Amino acid sequence: MKAETGMEQALAEPKASKPDHVPDGLVYEFDYTHDPEFLRDPFTRAAQVAREAPPIFWTPHNGGHWMITGFDDVSNAFRDWEAFSSVLIPKAMLDVILANLPPGATTPMTSLPSSVDPPAHAMYRAPLQQVFSPKVAMGLKEEIRELAVALIEKVRPNGRCEVMSEITEPLPVQMFLKLFGLPVERQAEYRDIVKTVMAPGVHDIANIIQGSQTLVATTAETLIERRENPRDDIISAMWKLEIDGKPITLELMQSYSLTLFLAGLDTVMNAMTLGARHLAMNPALQAEVRADPSRVVEMTDELLRLYSFPMPIRMVGKDASFGDVAFKQGERVHFFLPGANRDPRQFEAPDAFRLGRDLKSHLGFGAGPHRCLGMHLARVELHVFYEELLRRLPEFQLDPERPPRFHGGMVTGPTELNIVWN
Ligand code: HEM
Repeated sequence: MKAETGMEQALAEPKASKPDHVPDGLVYEFDYTHDPEFLRDPFTRAAQVAREAPPIFWTPHNGGHWMITGFDDVSNAFRDWEAFSSVLIPKAMLDVILANLPPGATTPMTSLPSSVDPPAHAMYRAPLQQVFSPKVAMGLKEEIRELAVALIEKVRPNGRCEVMSEITEPLPVQMFLKLFGLPVERQAEYRDIVKTVMAPGVHDIANIIQGSQTLVATTAETLIERRENPRDDIISAMWKLEIDGKPITLELMQSYSLTLFLAGLDTVMNAMTLGARHLAMNPALQAEVRADPSRVVEMTDELLRLYSFPMPIRMVGKDASFGDVAFKQGERVHFFLPGANRDPRQFEAPDAFRLGRDLKSHLGFGAGPHRCLGMHLARVELHVFYEELLRRLPEFQLDPERPPRFHGGMVTGPTELNIVWN
């Protein structure tokens, strides 16, 4: 993931003009890709935004868009798919893109099931539930552990490591490749694709389409091979699915792979790195969980709440009022999970890490019809990562010489995390 620099800050896009229907009182300047305070310490700045901005605000940055920050508003907006649609590329724009593709280019895929609204969404999502069930995720635990142990043991003798490049990037990427039966030798290639597609400025649709096409092209061969020679992996299991009563097609398989790839890699590596950072800053918590590893389960979800990083995106499907705010068709809206999960009306002392909270309702995995399909797998990956990190490394701290660095974007997160131990 690209680090932000002063130069990039200076190169931030010009601000959009405020649309006439947006009252002055609802404008708040927040730039999720370049705000210097957000890049220095995203969660402190996010808490400040949630405290001082209107609960629903419009910002002129990143092309101009709405941000919904409160816990209840975000929960309701996730479920109001008629107002806030997941169809991000309107048909008219898609037609223009298709008409301008260079000869021989692969047709852009719709990412399934994430870019489809109810009721059609259920038809694409329901069959995947069996592949991503808690039971299947638990069944993968030992395979995940093997990868985590190998990566952590490799750095253990060094007394220091850069967590992202040495553990939390390779772990979910290798996991994904293994689960999907894709060649692990192509790890670097797949990591580069995630970086391109998820780089700051993701509202740049052309960028997303280009990265998506590369991904579709690189996975096609394996998808076809697995249809002919099924193995014990997710791709082979997905070939057995029926969508709307009909056998799944190659095009649908590619659309699913695209979403699972984009949704499953950047997210897990961010969550792991942010959790490792919190542990490095809190030796008492390390000691508590080392003494009672069963606490890893609640620690994982409290860390997901405290360091919620996604800002899911929607398009206003038709002119609509939500609360007192009027939205116009075609406007972009983000759900500000870093703020919603620290809403004091929902969580007591929201900025504090507390084991034993009631976390059933946190929004780290979203809510409503598009709630994270991979959350069981993500939790198992996180549990194993924390268990092995705490079991295999002695007490670790942030490297005082190399402070953590962050990047902005729709999936905000760390770029670099250095830790040291004796
Ligand atoms: C800590 C890790 C993860 C976090 C924080 C996370 C978070 C989220 C969030 C917030 C959404 C809702 C997006 C929206 O409403 O637009 C979502 C959806 C989704 N996630 Fe995850 N995710 C994680 C890991 C994974 C993994 C490992 C996979 C699968 C390999 C995955 C697959 C999906 C899919 C397929 C969707 C779309 C579901 C739908 O549209 O019905 N996620 N995730």
